[in-house]
Amino acid sequence: MIEIRSIILYPAVKSTYPVRKPMQLSLLDISAPEDRAKTRVDELRRQLEHHNRLYYQLDAPTISDAEYDSLFRELQLLEEQYPSLITPDSPTQRVGGAALEKFSSVTHRLAMLSLENAANAVEIRDFDLRVKKNLGLSPEELISYICEPKMDGLAVELIYTDGLLTVASTRGDGVTGEDVTENIRTIRSLPLRLSGERIPSLLEVRGEVFLSLDAFQRINAEKEENGEASFANPRNAAAGSLRQLDPRITARRPLSIYCYAPGISEGADFATQQDFFTAIAGWGLPVNPLVCAVEGIDEAVTFYEEMQQQRESLPYEIDGTVIKVDSFTLQRELGEKSRSPRWAVACKFPPRQAETVVEDILPSVGRTGVITPVARLRPVEISGVTVSRATLHNWDEIAAKDIRIGDRVMIERAGDVIPAVVRVLVEQRSGSERQFLPPGTCPECGSVVVRIADEVALRCMGLACPPQIRESIVHFASRNAMDIEGLGDKFVEQLFSLGLVHSIADIYRLTRDDFMRFERMGDKLASNLLSAIENSKQRELGRFIFALGIRHVGERTAKSLAQAFGSLENLERARFEELVSIRDIGATVAQSICTFFENRDNQEVIRRMLEAGVTPAVELKKVGGRFTGKTCVHRRSWTFHP
Ligand code: IVH
Repeated sequence: MIEIRSIILYPAVKSTYPVRKPMQLSLLDISAPEDRAKTRVDELRRQLEHHNRLYYQLDAPTISDAEYDSLFRELQLLEEQYPSLITPDSPTQRVGGAALEKFSSVTHRLAMLSLENAANAVEIRDFDLRVKKNLGLSPEELISYICEPKMDGLAVELIYTDGLLTVASTRGDGVTGEDVTENIRTIRSLPLRLSGERIPSLLEVRGEVFLSLDAFQRINAEKEENGEASFANPRNAAAGSLRQLDPRITARRPLSIYCYAPGISEGADFATQQDFFTAIAGWGLPVNPLVCAVEGIDEAVTFYEEMQQQRESLPYEIDGTVIKVDSFTLQRELGEKSRSPRWAVACKFPPRQAETVVEDILPSVGRTGVITPVARLRPVEISGVTVSRATLHNWDEIAAKDIRIGDRVMIERAGDVIPAVVRVLVEQRSGSERQFLPPGTCPECGSVVVRIADEVALRCMGLACPPQIRESIVHFASRNAMDIEGLGDKFVEQLFSLGLVHSIADIYRLTRDDFMRFERMGDKLASNLLSAIENSKQRELGRFIFALGIRHVGERTAKSLAQAFGSLENLERARFEELVSIRDIGATVAQSICTFFENRDNQEVIRRMLEAGVTPAVELKKVGGRFTGKTCVHRRSWTFHP
């Protein structure tokens, strides 16, 4: 048995700040009241940060919640009395002011790379051999590695300037991310100011923001109570919470963070990853206590296997482990490939599986009319999420896997992906299982169903097929399209069944009274929905084109079209030849775009949206000269000729 050495990050913590009674005025104290208040304010802040750390990082509080609240209240009162004493790092200032219009972008000084994957012990050992080959070492040599749980959340970068948290940003595309400082400040385990010795003048740290399983379940329960769609997994919930424009909403979502990599720093020099962890933990930054130093790849494989066992009992989701060469000198020598360093590897766990029963197979009609089989399952829990449906992808797959109604099956859920049936437990069949044949007509509208040449999909040809229209509205409002927050499946379903929307254009005619007809709808929620709809009127052109749901036009193609044509009018008028001349656009896509804009109904829907005030912001092509490298977005209004 190999022994793994945990890194001692947090020396035994003694409570250096015993709780004291609120400040007593002493008759002998002759200093000015404001000076006395300042002394007390400083002391209270130190105490509160200290207790925050004991509570959130070490899970070892030494005072009760009520005592903590009373210290907090005392600080709040003093700050109310002496507003000049308020500083940005005060624990009272975690939740900032008003909601933002949009996030501004932040360019990372050092690109935020991603990691290469290893899927099993063999691939982990391959990584070790590559490292040694690149360093010119013999295969027998032992490398010192640091092993870490791979948190399943979102990467962020924090910048501490002279010890003060000044900027926090998402990873974005690795080069540029979004400024989420206000939201990151709400994470209680994260110090707003570093404490301890030799604080560097600049410290950039990368880490993973995540939600505990507890918090995830609480948020989903709340969402369901409000009739909103729940998050598919903790990572989506963390992402949704971090991308809230209103930090007061984020503050109600108890996000956590573990820091795991340095960016650029000034005034600090770390020789190893272990040094880095010890230093940042000493300054109060949260580091996962499970990180380990190992010698050689065998121990790293053991860590991977042990973590896989521990995974079920951890209070948060991990999707693997990360192995990093400990020495920063060796890391530099190994260098990077274009997207990932040669000195680290992400060791992914196999997806989680569970056994259940296929209770029924239902044909489901999507936005483009494709009819896919969906399995209704006996509900089963996989990693904190109750799964009751699985996609069967297409009709050929049902035949290939011979999936029948009543079968016991193994299902699998990997990250974001919709759960899938992996295999049928044929040996457990009783003989009462029933085969399911593809439908001859659309189960929703009764129209004829065709199987398109070269496609395995069945497609409903009905133009007025309700689920197609409903799904096109859900797609239009979705995050990557018009991003109408709150207008998800459930509300669209209600709008549709109340007969309030028949096409995407109807969204812009909705009134407060319409929303108030929903179950469990309050004034506030209705206002939020209306303002989300109003705000969406000015989305970028690329999003608008994507939102239209033109067949074969995904996000990237939509963006290319927006850049190439610069306006919706130009795109509408574009001929087939012009379209195919654009990079990445082939004949099928070009034909689909032409067909879409030639359709009278589509023209009418677009006309009504523009009339309602939808003015997609035009993205100009990147041009040389003064604005080189910048994407310019400007807005213009549209004129109509009804
Ligand atoms: S190190 C250059 N350490 O995994 C190395 N990443 O697949 C930068 N992640 O984008 C990453 N836990 O979001 C590192 N302990 C850990 C991690 C970790 C989770 C995420 C991170 C990264 C992704 C790469």
